[in-house]
Amino acid sequence: MDHKSSRRDFLKQGSLAGVGTVFSMGVGSSVFAIGTNNTVPAIIGGRPAWNEMKWVKWPIWNPETDEKRIIEVLRSGIWSRAGVVTEFEAEWSKALGVKRSLAVVNGTNALIVALSQLNIGPGDEVIVPPYTFIATIQAVLVNGAMPVFVDIDPATFQIDPAKIEAKITPRTKAILPVHILGLPADMDGIMAIAKKHHLVVLEDACQAPLAEVNHKKVGTIGDAGCFSFQNSKNIAIGEGGAIVSDNDAFIDRCFSYQNLGFPHGSMVGSVSNSSMIQATKVRFTEYQAAIGLAQLQRLEAQTTTRNENAAYLKKRISSIPGIIPYKLYDNVTRAAFHLFAFRYKRENFKDLPREKFLKALQAEGVPCASGYVVLNTQPFLDNAFQSRAFRKVYPSKMLDFKNYQEKNKCPENEALCSDAVWLPQNVLLAGKSDMDAIALAIEKIYKNAEAINKAT
Ligand SMILES: Cc1ncc(COP(=O)(O)O)c(C=O)c1O
Repeated sequence: MDHKSSRRDFLKQGSLAGVGTVFSMGVGSSVFAIGTNNTVPAIIGGRPAWNEMKWVKWPIWNPETDEKRIIEVLRSGIWSRAGVVTEFEAEWSKALGVKRSLAVVNGTNALIVALSQLNIGPGDEVIVPPYTFIATIQAVLVNGAMPVFVDIDPATFQIDPAKIEAKITPRTKAILPVHILGLPADMDGIMAIAKKHHLVVLEDACQAPLAEVNHKKVGTIGDAGCFSFQNSKNIAIGEGGAIVSDNDAFIDRCFSYQNLGFPHGSMVGSVSNSSMIQATKVRFTEYQAAIGLAQLQRLEAQTTTRNENAAYLKKRISSIPGIIPYKLYDNVTRAAFHLFAFRYKRENFKDLPREKFLKALQAEGVPCASGYVVLNTQPFLDNAFQSRAFRKVYPSKMLDFKNYQEKNKCPENEALCSDAVWLPQNVLLAGKSDMDAIALAIEKIYKNAEAINKAT
C-alpha cells in the first residue's frame, strides 16, 4: 500500500487490494495454519498464516437486537434532533462518567464547536501533536487560531509533555492533546503544564472512547473532550461526534452554537425565540442516535477484548528483532486501541522496505497499513496562512511558511511516520489463536526477509 495513504484510504484501499475481504466477512475466528511446516511467506508462494480470511466485520450490526429502535425512529417521522439524541447523550455521559455530553455531526465539528466556545480564535496559539488525523489541525485553523506542533514521545507516539513548555508563548491559549491510536496521552504531565501556564486543555479523544488515565476516562480530564463516531471508529455510527465536559455553562454554549445560536439552558437566560450568538448548525439526528445506542451496548466488552488481545499480541511480537510495539504510560489504566501500532525497523529485516513488509503481511491475511504522513509541512497550512483572515491577524513573519516549518520541526514524528505499522481495531476483536497467527506471519517475514526483498 502506498505509504502516502491516509487512514481512511487504508480501509478503503484495503477492500480494493484484497485485504478488504477481511473487512467484509462475518464474525468468527480464523481458520489458520499455524503448523510447524508453515514457514514460507505467502508472498513468495507459501501458505498464508490464514487459509481463510475471517476477521470480525466492521461495523458490527445485529439485526435482531439493533434494528427495532432504528425502525421505530424511522416510522415516527421525527428524524431531526429530539429525544433519542438526548437519550444517547445521557448514555454517553454515563459511559464516561462525565456530567454532560453534546452530540454533533462528527468529531471534526465537535472540535470546531468546542474550540470556539472555549474562546479560542484569531491570534491565539494552540499546542498540538503532529501525529494525528488532519481534522485536529483543521479545527484549529477553522477557528482562526495557529497550530503549534510539539514533537511526540517516540515510545508512546503521543505528544511529549517534556517538549511543551519550550513552545509556550504569550499567544498560547490551549493545549490540544490527542489520544492517538486510542492510546492515552500523558495527561498528568499535560495538566500540570496547563495549570502552571493557565492554559485551556481540550482533549481530542476521537480515537479513544473508554480509555483511561488513573482510572479516569480520557476526554473528561481536561476542560472538555471530543469524540468521533465515524465508521472506522470503536463506536461506529457512520458519522457522528460528541463534546463532553463537567462544565454546564460551556456545554450550554456549545449547544446554542451548534443550533444557530438559539437559547439553551443557561445560555441567553430568559430570552427566547431569538438567536443570541453568531453560530452554526451541526445537529445530530435521531436515527444516528438510535444506531449509537445499539453500538454503545457492545463497547465495554469490545474494549476489554481489544485490551486483552493487544497485550497478548504485544508480548508475542516484542521478541522479534526490529518489531517495537507501542508503549503505554505507567498511569494508563486502560487503552482503547483504535489501532494496534508498532515500529518496523527495516535494518533488522535485511533492509526489507516497509512497503514490502506491509505487502507480505497482507498476503498472510493480516490487514495493515503505514499510517499517518507528516502533517506539519502540508500545503493546507500555507493555504490558511495566505487567507485574508490570517493575514489580518498575524504578523507576516509568523505566516512565512518556510519559517513556520522550521519552527515546527518534529523529527521524532518524521521517524515514526516512516516506520510505523498499523493493524485496525477489528483485528483485536478476534481470538488469541488469531493473535498467534499474526505473530507467525511476522516471524515468517522476518526469517525470509532477504528472499522476499529479492522476489518482490
Ligand atoms: C484524532 C482524530 N481527530 C478528529 C477526528 C475527526 O472525526 P470525524 O471523522 O468524526 O470528523 C478523527 C477521526 O476521523 C480522529 O481520528
